[in-house]
Amino acid sequence: MVPLPEQDLLAVLAPFGESIMLPAAAYTDPAVLDWEHRHLFEGGWVCVGRAADVPTPRSQQAVRIGRTSVLMTRDDGGLVRVLANICRHRGHELLACGSRASRPSIVCPYHAWAYELDGSLRHAPKVQGIDTTQLGLAPIRSAEWAGWVFVNLDGEAAPFEEFLGDIPALLDAWDLGELAVAATHHYDLAANWKLACENYHECYHCPLIHPELCRVTVANSGDNYRTDRGAFVGGSMLLAERAATMSLSGASCATVRPRLSPTQRRQVLYLNLFPNLLISVHPDYVMTHRIEALAPDRCAVECQWLFAPEDLARDGFDPADAIGLWDLTNRQDWGAVESVQRAMSSPLYRPGVLAHGEDAVYQFAGMVANAYLGRGLVRGAIPETYAR
Ligand code: FES
Ligand SMILES: [Fe+2]
Repeated sequence: MVPLPEQDLLAVLAPFGESIMLPAAAYTDPAVLDWEHRHLFEGGWVCVGRAADVPTPRSQQAVRIGRTSVLMTRDDGGLVRVLANICRHRGHELLACGSRASRPSIVCPYHAWAYELDGSLRHAPKVQGIDTTQLGLAPIRSAEWAGWVFVNLDGEAAPFEEFLGDIPALLDAWDLGELAVAATHHYDLAANWKLACENYHECYHCPLIHPELCRVTVANSGDNYRTDRGAFVGGSMLLAERAATMSLSGASCATVRPRLSPTQRRQVLYLNLFPNLLISVHPDYVMTHRIEALAPDRCAVECQWLFAPEDLARDGFDPADAIGLWDLTNRQDWGAVESVQRAMSSPLYRPGVLAHGEDAVYQFAGMVANAYLGRGLVRGAIPETYAR
């Protein structure tokens, strides 16, 4: 079990309205992060990016995950593979984390061992008399959904379809797999990765710190999902009457996804596919946050804006209005989240209680507490009678 007192975790799982938040050590103790790396990031399914990050045959990209990194490649047949980013000679990274290459083989920069795109060893200079067929790069269990690539490092996680549960059906009408990345921003946060998620799950703070966001959405609207199927927490919000989408002006620069229902055309959905992918779905575009836990008090966030390729290809297409709103909102959020992180190291901090409307925070904290207790990825249970 995680190195936290059991009664502190059971207090997180008390009925909604009586529960408290996770203990401060969950956000500050390196031993807790080490447990999370082993059990949540390496023992579960984790998003490592878009399949389009390796756009053409021979593309390679290294991505940090947990305590290691993996190499995504696309072979000459177009198949995306994920391999250990660790050379079988003496362990050098084959590509630096975050960097990309495009070449017919994977070449270690240390002593030039070369591997095929499927990971098998092609050439090891000056190595003789050993069985090189046993020295391929370790394949990593991986799966794709809606254009994203997910990996399970230890190979022991539940089947991928079970992990996704209801989320593909919820997002089906957006045809997310068709979308392409228009912009990517990188943020470094002086905060635990879970605080970024908890903040994402409530709009209680919106009227205070997001005046621009509140002009285009109705902060206390929508509902949160309560399904038991899938490792996600999330819900919906309504667009403000005069807003076509979430942008600084409220106007849209793109086309509404063609298969959306009239209800979906007026909604924004916020979904956290546990642990590290936040998917914010608008009628005409999608924004994602992919979170990497770096230290108890540090995480990196890759934020992307995805649009239909037809929009991206259109003369004069300019997504700055949508990107601008979310970049501003992100920075407002990071300020709040970093302030909360500072409290986690204070001797004066005590775990807080949740307000009405913070039910998705309760579901998320419950999922973390249940995982810590060895009960799997099970959300905090909101009573059927609860109305937001
Ligand atoms: S460590 Fe890769 S070739 Fe030596
Ligand atoms: Fe926010």
